[in-house]
Amino acid sequence: MSNKRIVSGMRPTGKLHLGHFHGVLANWRELQEEYECFFFAADWHSLTTEYDNTEAIRQNTDEMILDWLAFGVDPAKCVIFRQSRVPQHAELNLILSMITPVSWLERNPTYKEMQENLSAKDLSTFGFLGYPVLMASDIIVYKASKVPVGHDQLPHLEITREIARRFNYLYNTEVFPEPAALLTETPKVLGLDGRKMSKSYGNAIFLSESADETRKKVMSMVTDTQRVRRSDPGEPDRCVAFSLNSLYLPEEKKADIYAGCRTASIGCVECKKLQAEYLVETLAPYRARRDELTAKPGLAAEILAEGEARAAAEAARTMAEVRDALKI
Ligand code: TRP
Ligand code: SF4
Repeated sequence: MSNKRIVSGMRPTGKLHLGHFHGVLANWRELQEEYECFFFAADWHSLTTEYDNTEAIRQNTDEMILDWLAFGVDPAKCVIFRQSRVPQHAELNLILSMITPVSWLERNPTYKEMQENLSAKDLSTFGFLGYPVLMASDIIVYKASKVPVGHDQLPHLEITREIARRFNYLYNTEVFPEPAALLTETPKVLGLDGRKMSKSYGNAIFLSESADETRKKVMSMVTDTQRVRRSDPGEPDRCVAFSLNSLYLPEEKKADIYAGCRTASIGCVECKKLQAEYLVETLAPYRARRDELTAKPGLAAEILAEGEARAAAEAARTMAEVRDALKI
């Protein structure tokens, strides 16, 4: 069983958008059919950079979990929980911190990079340096065999493997399997302005927004900039709106748009209205489910309570083995 186990965490940054829908969530929806999955909100990880600004963390966590549940992460198939409610992550973090050489953490490329990128913030903390140790704890406390992550997380996962190996070596044990990265290709989702969709660029379509907000955003999207006048023929493959919305259009509508745009028989306003309707229609059942969950906050609370109990039971089993291995 344990060789089919997956663990993945997401830092709670708030409401998720279409980039998450086609990236992480689509991936998780597939994995839950095949693996035993542990998916958690990495709220302690948020503290590594937001320790001086914690007010939003809880709400961001709640919103993110609602998006997971409404958009297809199924609590009947996965264990869904908040990291901060499973104290074994912290217990293992403490023990692993004893055996992790500081040099491994200092040479982590994301460490220096992030410190430089966020230079306005004092990130010369113990916890920030130790981020990969906490991440290793998250993963190996469940003896995961695979971890779905993006390229940016590969150095962290490498440190996880090194830490697991070092623990096994030092205490002459096989408690921890070495987890492998599960890299998945996801479609590149463009935001309203043609850059990668991202909350921080202000170009995102959020899963939880209303249909009307989404329609308005689609109407504001960049089209083929070389199509200046209504009478100019255009090219959908140069159109930002089409790049995003073609993900929701049935094949025959896509063909109609290719033909209509290239012959200037359809205008961009009319075309984007049509595109928006398919997007809105695709999201409608998920959004309805999200509204339902929002209206009954007890539902998500119950799901989390169950997930947290299951996660803690599993993690506690591992910690008993860890204490045995340590002989303490
Ligand atoms: N570091 C990951 C990120 O920023 C989040 C994370 C924390 C995680 N713990 C994890 C991912 C364990 C996978 C497994 O995206
Ligand atoms: Fe884009 Fe449609 Fe305008 Fe062509 S007609 S440029 S596909 S919005």
